[in-house]
Amino acid sequence: MTAAKPRPVVLSGIQPSGRLTLGNYLGAIKNWVPLADTHDCYYMLVDLHAITVRQDPKVLRERCFEFIALYVACGLDPSRNVLFVQSHVPAHARLSWVLNCYTQMGELSRMTQFKDKSAKNVDNINAGLFDYPVLMAADILLYDATGVPVGDDQKQHLELTRDVAIRFNNAHGTKDRPVFIVPEPMIPPVGARIMGLQDPTAKMSKSGDAETDAIYLLDPPDTITRKLKRAVTDLGNEVRYDVKDKPGVSNLMSILAATTGQTLEQIVETYNGQGYGKLKGAAAEAVVECLRPVQARYAELRGDEPGLMRVLRDGAQRASQKADATLMRVHEALGFIPQ
Ligand code: TYM
Repeated sequence: MTAAKPRPVVLSGIQPSGRLTLGNYLGAIKNWVPLADTHDCYYMLVDLHAITVRQDPKVLRERCFEFIALYVACGLDPSRNVLFVQSHVPAHARLSWVLNCYTQMGELSRMTQFKDKSAKNVDNINAGLFDYPVLMAADILLYDATGVPVGDDQKQHLELTRDVAIRFNNAHGTKDRPVFIVPEPMIPPVGARIMGLQDPTAKMSKSGDAETDAIYLLDPPDTITRKLKRAVTDLGNEVRYDVKDKPGVSNLMSILAATTGQTLEQIVETYNGQGYGKLKGAAAEAVVECLRPVQARYAELRGDEPGLMRVLRDGAQRASQKADATLMRVHEALGFIPQ
């Protein structure tokens, strides 16, 4: 009998820096769930990344429990996915240091997320904020991930990860034995960039200021409906996908498409000429129905903190096994004396 072929690996993560939004769900988590059929799946809460912006420790801890319960409630079965907290696996910080020495200051200063975040946090432009993408590269490369399921906004960080991996491989690997696998982004065809409901020209964000701009996964149904009915749309009544001229309507179309599986063409056929009220009503109904089972499951899971801790301990152990092996391979390639 031949040994089973190892399955390809995917890895992704979310910062516990605010409440999970519909954008995080449609751009990321929803697309993670089916991958367990074909891949070894690692999904993290990236708490080390979250502290690049000041966090209240009590709120952060509470939010991490909320996130892990939501991961499971969204369908990530802990027996089929490795679910863990980034700070529980020391190899992330250790590889990040090594990769710092293979990343150029110029590359990091071109990152749009750094530019946006430093504009928003002028009194705290810390080195971690600048270095953020290197830690993200370490997250990915530690697991030999071939694919990284993310929303559109992470594409630039993925490109940097690839560049750093290739640079390291050129310096320390051989063609037949590269040190790192060079990963590919996996960006969904719809839902990869859900925009704010009040400002459809900026992405829906967990740490945004306006409560009504984002739909949170734990918003009650009437709040979801109210937010969607009050979403900013454009003049006229034409339902057409055009991000530049009709950002509000296009966003509602993306939300409806990603939650129901309908194509944009089908949506145009059904709602064009009907006024935006109908489209908003349909999107509200679709989002409420999509989140109903998630919210019900969350209510069952969140109270069981010991159960959630067991998931995290088991996840950290399984993640460490894989990550430590990669880190040792890197140390060997660098010429460090083995421990
Ligand atoms: P974060 O926490 O900002 O977002 C988590 C995931 O949600 C996606 N996303 C969206 N998708 C569609 N529409 C939106 N409005 C929207 N907002 C967020 C993001 O693209 C992402 O997939 N740097 C990462 C976290 C990270 C990571 C990693 C990701 C750290 N290490 C390793 C993958 C692999 C971030 O800040 O995501």
